[in-house]
Amino acid sequence: MHLSLLGVLLLLSHSSNIAANPPLRPGYYSQTCPNAETTVRQVMKNAMIREPRSGASIMRFQYHDSLVNGCDGSLLLDDTPTMVGEKLSLPNIDSLRDYEVIDEMKEALENICPGVVSCADIIVMAARDAIALSGGPNWEVKLGRLDSLNASQAVADEIMPSPRSNATYLKHLFQEFGLSVKDLVALSGAHSIGNARCFSIFYRLYNQSGTGKADPAIEPKYREELEKLCPKGGDENVTGDLDATPQSFDNQYFKDLIAGRGFLHSDEALFTDLETRYFVQLYSDNQEEFFEDFVEGMIKLGDFQSGRPGEIRRNCRVVNSSSPFVLKDWKERNDGVI
Ligand code: HEM
Ligand SMILES: *[C@@H]1O[C@H](CO)[C@@H](O)[C@H](O)[C@H]1NC(C)=O
Ligand SMILES: *[C@@H]1O[C@H](CO)[C@@H](O)[C@H](O)[C@H]1NC(C)=O
Ligand SMILES: *[C@@H]1O[C@H](CO)[C@@H](O)[C@H](O)[C@H]1NC(C)=O
Ligand SMILES: *[C@@H]1O[C@H](CO)[C@@H](O)[C@H](O)[C@H]1NC(C)=O
Ligand SMILES: *[C@@H]1O[C@H](CO)[C@@H](O)[C@H](O)[C@H]1NC(C)=O
Repeated sequence: MHLSLLGVLLLLSHSSNIAANPPLRPGYYSQTCPNAETTVRQVMKNAMIREPRSGASIMRFQYHDSLVNGCDGSLLLDDTPTMVGEKLSLPNIDSLRDYEVIDEMKEALENICPGVVSCADIIVMAARDAIALSGGPNWEVKLGRLDSLNASQAVADEIMPSPRSNATYLKHLFQEFGLSVKDLVALSGAHSIGNARCFSIFYRLYNQSGTGKADPAIEPKYREELEKLCPKGGDENVTGDLDATPQSFDNQYFKDLIAGRGFLHSDEALFTDLETRYFVQLYSDNQEEFFEDFVEGMIKLGDFQSGRPGEIRRNCRVVNSSSPFVLKDWKERNDGVI
């Protein structure tokens, strides 16, 4: 990964953003779609009643969308014959889920105010709602993003860190995005909710750093549990909990890290490293502090913008120019004529 290049890209986008796009602000839709935020929250609530995990799955979108060319809904685009998008990238494939819930939000919004609310903004609202509905903090989000006109598998592969990452790597990566060590640890606290696959931990159970052995940072009893969940050569799609209370957004994640019970290597690494450990300890003792810093981190993530031209997509999966709605309109018109 070319960290210096990334930095330049972000710098450029920050400066061009000032000229090109209106600034994000709270209440952006208060005139054009006053019920936008309550609508998104209601759909999020229903989805979590159907399946509690969907809160985690949806809030993860903000992180994966924002790091790759800014928060522009790029990760929602389906592949086309001429574009391989982010859905197929290694960190996303067979892993990101609940795209249908975003579709449901978009449909509800198109019904009340067509063509007004961007998919990028839906992700940011829904992520906030998922956290609030899981017992976490609630906060005001800035809105007014545009949806991207393309997406790239390669760029997502290059940027998104692997669960094998060590703390040194993660600190540098986040720093390239203007995110501090504190932001890194606080935002990783998102793993207070949700699940991960055996695929993501096989190597740390059976061949950490090519040693042929388990990651020594795993507490022995927990390692036995993980080996039972994810036996060598077993099903890579089986999932385990990212912390001991996977449906509550709380500071249990940090307590688990201290106990050697972090699920991913990249989680436990935050306790192994002395600089990040400071914040792990702080948040394990003080949930309020965690919540405050987490919100700060989410707002910083939400501020990333590419500065590129965009649109308000009608369907989050396709750009307007090739929207099936356009095709459908066209067909309906022509069916009438022919
Ligand atoms: C710091 C670097 C990070 C790494 C290496 C990382 C990696 C991962 C991995 C590997 C998974 C499980 C994927 C799978 O096995 O299918 C996961 C799940 C998850 N991640 Fe992260 N993550 C990081 C940071 C974040 C951040 C900053 C957020 C949000 C602010 C986040 C939110 C989530 C959530 C909520 C889940 C569970 C999703 C679900 O249950 O569907 N992660 N992450
Ligand atoms: C895991 O699930 C994905 C679909 O979500 C499937 O394509 C893949 O084949 C599965 N892998 C295994 C080993 O079953
Ligand atoms: C995309 O569609 C929306 C809704 O019809 C419209 O407001 C917007 O201008 C379109 N954008 C482009 C670039 O066509
Ligand atoms: C996406 O579009 C932008 C311009 O809006 C362009 O700079 C970039 O190269 C495009 N990316 C891909 C992968 O086509
Ligand atoms: C951390 O990971 C990077 C990138 O994979 C690697 O080059 C480096 O040697 C690792 N550092 C430590 C202390 O293990
Ligand atoms: C363990 O990892 C090393 C280095 O990545 C690799 O050469 C070796 O084949 C792996 N061993 C097993 C049993 O997969």
